[in-house]
Amino acid sequence: MERIIIEGGSALSGTVDIGGAKNAVLPLMASGIMVTDGTLILENVPRVLDVMTMKELLQSLGLKIEYSDNMVKISNSELSGFTPPVDFVTAMRASVLVMGPLIGRFGRVSTQLPGGCAIGERPIDQHLEAFKAMGARVDIQSNSVEVRCNRLKGTEFRFRISTVTGTENALMAAVFAEGETVLHNCAKEPEVAELAGVLNKMGAKITGAGTDTIRVRGVSSLKGVKHRVMPDRIEAGTYIIAGVLSGERIIVRNVIPAHIDALLRKLKECGADFQIKHDSIEVSGRKGLTGTDVVTEVYPGFPTDLQAQFMALMCFAEGRSVIKESIFENRFHHVNELRKMGADISLSGNVAYINGGRRLNGTVVRASDLRASASLVIAGLGAKGTTEIEGLEHLDRGYEKMEDKLLRVGAKIKRVRI
Ligand code: EPZ
Repeated sequence: MERIIIEGGSALSGTVDIGGAKNAVLPLMASGIMVTDGTLILENVPRVLDVMTMKELLQSLGLKIEYSDNMVKISNSELSGFTPPVDFVTAMRASVLVMGPLIGRFGRVSTQLPGGCAIGERPIDQHLEAFKAMGARVDIQSNSVEVRCNRLKGTEFRFRISTVTGTENALMAAVFAEGETVLHNCAKEPEVAELAGVLNKMGAKITGAGTDTIRVRGVSSLKGVKHRVMPDRIEAGTYIIAGVLSGERIIVRNVIPAHIDALLRKLKECGADFQIKHDSIEVSGRKGLTGTDVVTEVYPGFPTDLQAQFMALMCFAEGRSVIKESIFENRFHHVNELRKMGADISLSGNVAYINGGRRLNGTVVRASDLRASASLVIAGLGAKGTTEIEGLEHLDRGYEKMEDKLLRVGAKIKRVRI
């Protein structure tokens, strides 16, 4: 087992470079199933476990994939499978993203319903409803699902709830559908627009991505292209929060400020001091902060993927903060671990009440999901004494070399095998 060990209290200074967006890479990799000629090349791909899992999943379907340094090359000359292996589907929710491409291109997919995970039940009813609306037959037996159709037909469909991967799946399924598909109440996350932009470069005809309504005119082929993936807004937000707490002067570089506007507004509200530049945020941290309230919302609201990290920061801010998690039903696993460090947090349903301004003390804590693990690293940076974090398999799913990036700006942090 590995642990990250942090001696809290260091003043961090220097530059942190943000990598490519994991949650943009995953649907883009799945879209490689739809490339009818040539090779899809993705650059600026982070080296994280979720990308490795997607690579292995696509390889199990017969795609040829290279994943070296920060590049992924995908060609699907030998695509042979339509049944993503169960292990992948249960290991990573994003495995569901192969459904749209397989149904859209080959008219079939058989898979396991992705189980819930630490943060919630994670149903895919809206994905399946969208496929049905386009003419597919959906059969669910216990916890597996088979989707079949000859050729999807364009239709109008409204999502009951805003779903990021649901929108991405429907979008990809519609690319080869006959006629026009209009999708309403779509997710507006930047990763959806990134996917649509690359599909259009490949030959698709998609308009409206990034808004509530997306229109897709069916085409018959997609060609491979080369694309540099946009920066990861959640990784950026994570390091900006770390800089506000512990940074003397931290420059977080390769950022699209518009993608993290909701976070920046909240940081301003609690007294953080930072400058917004064209593609970086310059943080002068370690200022006295006051607590503020947050409700997580779909984009462009405050992202649920920064809730845990922001809560860690509020533990150090004077006064009371109230954080409501309105996207997932069970995304407070970090609370107990923060309490072990001395945080004063009480919960009522999906609302957390934080009485900040207390000193946190280092201790042994355990991460339970990807963003909770980042939250504990942030708390360790600000705490007094030594914090030891277990459960790094969660952290490594979505953060490339976090301890190296923090070490380079002066954190006393190391990863040890025990
Ligand atoms: C994406 O997950 C992200 N993952 C998540 O990031 C992110 O937290 C989430 O969007 C919300 O922003 C990827 O993009 C790979 P949803 P997704 O479908 O698409 C309910 C991370 O930390 N719902 O938008 O799976 C669902 O239960 C990960 O990087 C249905 O009810 O999330 C949830 O409550 C964690 N039926 C809400 O909608 C459906 O058919 C939002 O889920 C689909 C979703």
